[in-house]
Amino acid sequence: MTDGKIGVFDSGIGGLTVLKEIINYLPNEDIIYFGDGKRTPYGGKSKETIELFALQSMKFLVSKGTKAVVIACNTVSSNAMDAIRANYSIPVIGVVSTTAQLAFSESRNKKIGVIGTKATIESCAYEKALKSIDKSVYVYQKSCPLFVPLAEEGIEWWDDEITEMVAKRYFKFFNNTDIDTLILGCTHYPLLKKIIKRTIGDNVNLVDSALITARKTKVMLEQAKLLTTDKKKGSLEIYTSDSIERFLPLCSAILGMNNINIQKCDVGE
Ligand code: DGL
Repeated sequence: MTDGKIGVFDSGIGGLTVLKEIINYLPNEDIIYFGDGKRTPYGGKSKETIELFALQSMKFLVSKGTKAVVIACNTVSSNAMDAIRANYSIPVIGVVSTTAQLAFSESRNKKIGVIGTKATIESCAYEKALKSIDKSVYVYQKSCPLFVPLAEEGIEWWDDEITEMVAKRYFKFFNNTDIDTLILGCTHYPLLKKIIKRTIGDNVNLVDSALITARKTKVMLEQAKLLTTDKKKGSLEIYTSDSIERFLPLCSAILGMNNINIQKCDVGE
């Protein structure tokens, strides 16, 4: 089924940072994105709730004819991969193990920081992924729950002094850890990259999920013989479960596109 679509989903706008790279990297593929704005943020919710929301998003995307799905959300990747794999046999790629591998390969001193939502950090998914590569690696994990609502609140918050104060408070945790690499373990966080970089300092390398996940998606499609043979530009469908008016400006800013057609859908029971 090389003519199916690639499904991409997140709790909201964060997965658009991954979608942007997938569009650049796989320009001929038809892509469908779902952002669950109505129920965002997922990061403070229980594993059971995250699994339920993830399975509902999967059901919606599969009903639209997807041949493979990218979970562009660390919270879902950390908490619901097993449930998704138990219920769906199409190729599914998450963001955690790929991003952990990239961070490990880029770190020189093997002291790696991870920031993410509460649910991602409490799952210890990054710590487990990094330790499975090398058990002597030092992992320092810190949840930064206010970053998602600040990113979702609008562009004016992405490089704002209040957001910077929040970052300074969270990042005190990394004082004296000597980390040389920081994993942005939430797909919303690249939107706050300027502030994160300024606060954590130039000597710490930031690693996020976007580009590496796009590359890995191509490899996954190649291996499953699902890469499109089409030479024309792929189509893009974007759905939100919340207000289109709210989603549109953020979507345009992240994707750097005008005239985006966004449709409303409801994936809950
Ligand atoms: N963008 C998401 C992640 O990567 C989810 C954030 C949230 O909904 O709390 O974890």
